[in-house]
This record gives sequence, C-alpha cells and structure tokens, in this order.
Amino acid sequence: MATHIRNIRQILTPVSPGNTPLLKIENGTVIVDESGIIYVGGTAGAPVPQNSDLVIDGTGQILTPGLIDCHTHLVFAGDRSGEFIRRTQGTTYSEIAASGGGILSTVQKTRDMSENDLLRNARIRAARWLSQGVTSLEIKSGYGLSVESELKLLRVINRLKQEFPGTVQATFMGAHEIPPEYRDDRSGWISVLTQELLPEIARNQLAEACDVFCETGVYSLEESEKIARAALQNGLKIKFHADELTPLGGASLAARLQALSADHLLCITDDGIRDLAASETVGVLLPGTAWYLKMPYAPARKLINSGATVALATDFNPGSCTLDQFSFIWMLAALYMSMSPDEILSAVTLNAAKAVGIHHITGKIEPGFRGDLVLWNSPSLEHLIYHPSLNHAGKVFASGQLVWQSEQWNECLFI
Ligand code: NIG
Ligand code: FE
Repeated sequence: MATHIRNIRQILTPVSPGNTPLLKIENGTVIVDESGIIYVGGTAGAPVPQNSDLVIDGTGQILTPGLIDCHTHLVFAGDRSGEFIRRTQGTTYSEIAASGGGILSTVQKTRDMSENDLLRNARIRAARWLSQGVTSLEIKSGYGLSVESELKLLRVINRLKQEFPGTVQATFMGAHEIPPEYRDDRSGWISVLTQELLPEIARNQLAEACDVFCETGVYSLEESEKIARAALQNGLKIKFHADELTPLGGASLAARLQALSADHLLCITDDGIRDLAASETVGVLLPGTAWYLKMPYAPARKLINSGATVALATDFNPGSCTLDQFSFIWMLAALYMSMSPDEILSAVTLNAAKAVGIHHITGKIEPGFRGDLVLWNSPSLEHLIYHPSLNHAGKVFASGQLVWQSEQWNECLFI
C-alpha cells in the first residue's frame, strides 16, 4: 500500500547538502511506501491512487523532510536545577564543573539508575521529539564514564533504536569528561577508552560514531586526536565538541581528521572557519546552548558565507541546554544567528543528515529516499519559525508509515 499526500500547498526540500537553494513545489503531491519515496511533483501530473492506497489531503499545508536532531545527550538520570539557579546568581557553567558539579553530578545519578529505568526515561523523551516531526535522532552516551556504565548507556540507546519508529544513531562519548576515579590518571582512562571500550563497542556494533569533548580542562587537542584515531581504527566515524567554551582549535582538528562534524563552535576562530569551509565536516550549531549558558552565539553567517555546511540541533542535556522544543532552536537561529528560513530548513534536514552520515538515505524529498516526512499544520515555513511555541507538526511519516498525527490547527487557519 502506498500513501498519496495530495494538494500540498508547498513542498520544500533541500537538494544537496550545503547552502544550495531549496526546491519548492506549489500544489504538490508526494507518494511514498515502505521502500521509499516514489513520486514528488505537481498534483496535476501525479499517478492516480489505487483503491488500496491511503490518500491524505494536504490542502493549506506544507511538507518538509522529517527533521533530524543530530546532537542530543538524552539518556541521563536526574536534574541539575540547583546548578541552574546558581548560574542565575552569577556562578558560571565552567566554575560549577570545576568544583565537581556539572557533567559529573549527572554521571553519579546515571550510574545509579537501572538500564530499564534509563530506557523508560529515554523513551518518553524520544516520543516528544517524534511528535515534533523529528524522524532521525542522534543520541550520545557519556554520563556513564566507566566501562560498565558506558556500555549500559549504549545498550539503552540501541534498545531505543529497535522501538523508535524513526532512526536512532548511537554515538559513543566516553570522552565527555575525565571520570572522578581517573582524575590523577588521565592517560589510564584514555587507555580504557582506546584499548577496551572502543574495540568492545565496535565488536558489538553498539555505536556508529565516537565524540570527544575537546575543551580546555577536559580533553586536550592531543588527547582528542588520540581517541578519535582509535575510533577510526575501530571503524567508527568521529565527531567533536569543538571550540564550545574556549577557542582551543577543535574545529580545525575535526576538519583535518575528516570528522563527520564539529559541534558547538561558539568560540571558533577565523582559522577554524576557514578549515571547516575547506572540508566536508559539518559545523553543528546549537543555539539553545548559547542561549541557556548566556554565551555569544556561534558565527553562523560567517560560517555559511565562507562556504561551510551548517546544521542545527538541540544539544538536549541536563546541564547546558534543557530545551527540548526543536522549533525554539529554529527561532533562535533566525533571531540571533540571522539564518534565513531556507538555511534553517536545510540545517535541520539534509545538512543534519550529513552530520551523522545518513544524507544518502534521508534528509530530502526525492524518489528513492526514505519516506521520512512532516506535513505541517502551517501555511508556510516562515510561520513555523515565527511562532515556535506551538507544535505545528500535523502528520509525521517515518519510512513511509504515518507514525504521529495531530488535527490541531492552532490559529493559522485564520491568517
Ligand atoms: O554539549 N559540552 C559538553 N557536553 C554537553 C553538556 C553536558 C552537561 O552539562 O551535562 C554539551 O554542552
Ligand atoms: Fe553536546
């Protein structure tokens, strides 16, 4: 059985990763089945539905590729509201981390929670993403920081992968912090990561990629490179938290090692921008984190104007960004990073797919691509960005199947 979505007010899709213009089709039709997208074009020339087909009327609505959140840390236990309040009184995120709070306080709670309870938490969160039109979701480990607990988190992510209607990409981030047990033996922990955990993860195919928090006071450039090279040797792709809090040079390292992505980039230098632009590495911008940490935003315009490929994601985590509304990220990108609506859509679809290495499968509406789609209860892309506090996702399709829907038309029927 195929699904025909007909009379769509406007279909919008990127055509290739980077900063190329969107393809926009007025009064369009898309036909999908489990094997992928079959037809994209005008309703006038579209194949006629068979009796067994499902027909959906898209009058007044827009259709985009399913969204891709290419950077989350959504498997964790506990909250850090106390730290948040301390930050409102003037203590900085880095000061809290240096005093033993921050990531390490979540590590303790996450180690103590059972695999099943962590899965239950993660499942509730992932359902929230799906209902907003997110059909592909990257999730990092990194709140275990021991062999046992990191493997537990990766098992949770892989169990979620089995049940999530869209796609889950697992990223190993044992290099999120130095575990308390290894504070005086950094190289000991790096040996555990490179010689024990990475080979075990590769053997059991528990992750597609490996991420390192390359940051002053966390992992140095040399340590980050060593871990990333071990990941590559074990067949994993690599990513970096780069130039987030200080301009250490992580973006240039990511470009040199041909990483999938360099993420955050709040403090990226002009050299870093030049290196990223000359590479295939995607710059993943996380404006929710800048907002939540009250830091200057990443230089999106400079990156885009230099020719770098830019994606947007939530970075959802308990410390530096608890925003779990994807539309809020778009709004911040528009308001504070001067990204255009078309740039934003590319950044949360095809460019984000490239940041996790799945841009040959999903992220655009084209025959042969997977049927990951969102039919929005909204008359335009601009409206979605301008009114982010409501969920405008109308029908969400993953691999051609309708996996979530809402009849709620907010107020935009009346504009
Ligand atoms: O992406 N930068 C490192 N990791 C997260 C923060 C994690 C936390 O504070 O728990 C981030 O911002
Ligand atoms: Fe992050």
